[in-house]
Amino acid sequence: MEVAVKIRKLVKRFGNTVAVDSLDLDINEGEIFGLLGPNGSGKTTTLLIISTVYKPTSGEVYVYGHDVIREGDVVRKYVGIAFQEPKALWVDKPYELLLWHARVVGYSTSEAREVVKNVMEVLGLWEHRNKYFYQLSGGTRKKVEIAKVLIQKPKIAIFDEPTAQVDVISKHALWDAIRELRTQGSTVIIATNDMFEAERMCERIAIIYKGKLKALGTVEELKDSIPEGDIVELMLDGDENTYLRAEDLLKQYGKTVRSNDSLKIFLNKGEERAIEILDLLKSRGFKIRKIMVKEPSLDDVFFYMTGAKLKEG
Ligand SMILES: Nc1ncnc2c1ncn2[C@@H]1O[C@H](COP(=O)(O)OP(=O)(O)OP(=O)(O)O)[C@@H](O)[C@H]1O
Ligand SMILES: [Mg+2]
Repeated sequence: MEVAVKIRKLVKRFGNTVAVDSLDLDINEGEIFGLLGPNGSGKTTTLLIISTVYKPTSGEVYVYGHDVIREGDVVRKYVGIAFQEPKALWVDKPYELLLWHARVVGYSTSEAREVVKNVMEVLGLWEHRNKYFYQLSGGTRKKVEIAKVLIQKPKIAIFDEPTAQVDVISKHALWDAIRELRTQGSTVIIATNDMFEAERMCERIAIIYKGKLKALGTVEELKDSIPEGDIVELMLDGDENTYLRAEDLLKQYGKTVRSNDSLKIFLNKGEERAIEILDLLKSRGFKIRKIMVKEPSLDDVFFYMTGAKLKEG
């Protein structure tokens, strides 16, 4: 298996902020790879270094063996990126912009017309083709940004939060289009803070937090990396203090994680333990609103590894 992107001891500082902190990562040719982490974890910074927009502070990044610093021109031939914030002038119109883009990445005029129309139809952009960029909604702008990469079909296709502003129906169309791109030979890298997107799309996922790699593997591997296979989740009547007291009582069963309105306990034999836990809580006068026994989600994996949440609320 060939390594498409090789990252070694990558560090990126902005003043006193360490955005990427000694990151090591191999992204394999042909896979759909996910960078999963909350706001500010260093996803965009990493992607912008791979695509030669930023220079590393230290460490190395190679794209098919080519150094992003010394061989930027070669690297740029391999990489296409859909930025987190769409880039266009206010007076650009989607159709013209994408036609121009298609010509720049090497299509003939007639090929360009065909591929642009095709991609615009797939993403539901065709009806917006002659509007000004400033007239487009946020989600539609984002689709134009993504269309660039779908048109380009680069060896390494990078999508920075592709569906963050996009409605549910469009999300599925985008995901399908990205999968199709991979089928046609691209390696795909997606940054997201949406565990559902990561789980649906990515064959391997790197969980990053505060610039550091916290876990790496397939969804299955990540879930199995939590040693206690089940989660008992409780919702109680009461305030924060109630949850604190319950947590104290239930620590004996396994690792606990508390949020504003729930308490999770990571343990084995969840179904059996849940009954014991119910009895214990009732005997101490707790009012239980809800109890669930679940398998861990990626959100739970992230929680378990970092003690932080992927998304607020
Ligand atoms: N150009 C910059 N100048 C200064 N600090 C920056 C710059 N770009 C990023 N940072 C900081 O680096 C850290 C990582 O930011 P980055 O944008 O890479 O995170 P992210 O994981 O993409 O977050 P999000 O989910 O919000 O997009 C943050 O603390 C951010 O404030
Ligand atoms: Mg980002």
